Amino acid sequence: MQRFSILGVVLFVFFYFTIGFSQFQIQENRPPLVKIVAPKDFSTFSWNSIIRYTIHVSDHEDGNSEYDEINPTEVLLVVKYLKDSSEIKSYLINESNTDYSPLVQMSSSTCFNCHRAKGTLIGPSFERIAEKYQKDPKAVQTLTEKIIAGDTSIWGDEKMPPHPDLKVAQVKEMVRWILENNSDTDKNYLTGIEGTIKIKEQPVAVSEKGILVMTASYTDHGSNNQRQNSRQGGETIVLKSH
Ligand code: HEC
Repeated sequence: MQRFSILGVVLFVFFYFTIGFSQFQIQENRPPLVKIVAPKDFSTFSWNSIIRYTIHVSDHEDGNSEYDEINPTEVLLVVKYLKDSSEIKSYLINESNTDYSPLVQMSSSTCFNCHRAKGTLIGPSFERIAEKYQKDPKAVQTLTEKIIAGDTSIWGDEKMPPHPDLKVAQVKEMVRWILENNSDTDKNYLTGIEGTIKIKEQPVAVSEKGILVMTASYTDHGSNNQRQNSRQGGETIVLKSH
């Protein structure tokens, strides 16, 4: 009888911990690991050249970019030119206070299939859109309506398809982000786990030594793929001009 109750206690403790622990594991979401494989941190770059980049993402819940388990357009790369290394610290502090969530939403939607921050793809660049509507107080409202309903004949012959699945509030955030974050000619953002960066011409100012800061990031889908407890991972590297 006594033996039986000891066994009962042991079984109770065992199940209490295994069930309790598995519930804990379901709710936990580990942050993704993001690594810029190429170029190497602290390497050098030449003006007016092309740099190939490769990013590796692994996430306990979402998977590994090497096995095509990560949607490449959800991997963001922010590239920024600075005059010299004294500017790095304040740039990174400023970046950590910048809300990138509208951009994350755009990268997990279809926007980057047709748009780039700089340079025309199927649709106009976000840089040119920002320039065109900068002084238009109604732009957030009208552009939001156009993205949801679809748009044609403003920029050329290509049509933007409708996006009825997106919420108005969500698209407003995207439009605000596009209009507010695309006037810096020394900053670019790209999506994808690999690609090329076209390095600008050498700046005329002799004082500019030239630093390139690259920040890759990925926001995971949360423990239940519903993005409720999403976490972000990232890596920043610094390159110097020759
Ligand atoms: C299939 C390609 C495609 C997709 C996907 C797409 N766009 Fe467009 N977008 C275009 C084209 C083409 C135009 C230019 C249409 C025109 O000339 O009126 C455009 C125009 C725009 C404009 C400017 C509209 C204007 O009236 O000046 C904004 C802002 C915009 N897109 C944002 C977005 C956002 C945000 C997303 C993602 C939710 C997105 N686009 C997805 C192709 C696309």
